[in-house]
Amino acid sequence: MEALLKAVRQAFATVPEAAAFLADWPEADARRVVTPATLPVCEWVAGLHSAATTQAVLAEVQRLAGRLAWQQTYGAGDFGADFLRGYGWSEFIGLRGPVPSARIACGVLLLAPGVTYPPHAHAAEEVYLPIAGVAAWQKADADFAKVQVGQAIHHPSWMPHAMQTKDQALAALYLWRGGDLAAKSVIL
Ligand SMILES: [Fe+2]
Repeated sequence: MEALLKAVRQAFATVPEAAAFLADWPEADARRVVTPATLPVCEWVAGLHSAATTQAVLAEVQRLAGRLAWQQTYGAGDFGADFLRGYGWSEFIGLRGPVPSARIACGVLLLAPGVTYPPHAHAAEEVYLPIAGVAAWQKADADFAKVQVGQAIHHPSWMPHAMQTKDQALAALYLWRGGDLAAKSVIL
């Protein structure tokens, strides 16, 4: 876990939008015991490919994937059962993950190929950093735009956003701050 945390922090260190989040990075040694849990979307982890700048953190996610708690915020009534087969996340830092923090949440989101994560919003301000897979991302009413691995995406509080994968699975690190760090997003 410590090597993963170090790699995540290093990956975000080059992202200007992440600076305010990194200022709240938990320095204490406290760790929670989390029970590993898998999801259907985890089948895509081993085959992910990164870019040079994010290869180290992807390798750590791949190495530890079987020991992480993979979770879902939504149920079948939100975006359907197909969505749940291709979606999941694991929190590293926050109210639930192995590293306690009430200031920031940090983890990784997975989407299988061919998944649409419909428009949603949340009080927390957010930075995403894709570490594998080119997906289309949408902010507010803008058109979907392809985002490359290593290209950060910033969502201010309550800005609607959506994602769409095509032929590649997506893995994206996320940071949250402000608002309820364990809140379910509002579906728009
Ligand atoms: Fe979000």
